[in-house]
Amino acid sequence: MGRKTYESIGRILPGRKNVIITRREEFSVPGAHISHSLDDALNTLRAEGHREIFIIGGRQVFRDTMGLIDRIYLTRVHRDYDGDTFMPPIPENEFTVVFEEKHSGDIPFTFLIYDRKDLKEHKHPDRPVTWMRGS
Ligand SMILES: NC(=O)c1ccc[n+]([C@@H]2O[C@H](COP(=O)([O-])OP(=O)(O)OC[C@H]3O[C@@H](n4cnc5c(N)ncnc54)[C@H](OP(=O)(O)O)[C@@H]3O)[C@@H](O)[C@H]2O)c1
Repeated sequence: MGRKTYESIGRILPGRKNVIITRREEFSVPGAHISHSLDDALNTLRAEGHREIFIIGGRQVFRDTMGLIDRIYLTRVHRDYDGDTFMPPIPENEFTVVFEEKHSGDIPFTFLIYDRKDLKEHKHPDRPVTWMRGS
């Protein structure tokens, strides 16, 4: 996750390795690994043998990893809200919806899974699957 996403959550996420990327040399968070580049973040996780890497935002990190990921878990909330940060567009020519689940209720939403169209070609024993998760 990007440093701003970490600060918006205000804590590390329990039960998994947390990697925060920042260009700030002095930045540290107990219990989290700090990387100063995307490459370092991904290489650290690969070197430790993690088979699934979840990219959890924010916009800057989603934007810069869109070309690297194999799957997107997306929740579309069917309401308008004020906001100052937006998920970058999903390149529809590169991804296809493989799962869609509509939920009604006070705040209707649709949960979607997109897979990279050439996902099979991407699968390689040495390459961990990299997911993006956002709403
Ligand atoms: N709805 C959702 O699913 C969701 C998910 C995630 C986040 N969010 C929201 O998104 C907002 C944050 O998104 P954002 O785009 O403003 O920020 P962000 O992507 O979370 O973090 C940006 C910061 O990450 C660091 N960074 C980014 N690329 C880097 C690189 N290549 N190398 C080293 N460091 C790098 C920099 O930190 P430094 O400035 O410290 O150098 C940069 O300022 C928050 O409001 C959060 O609540 C929403």
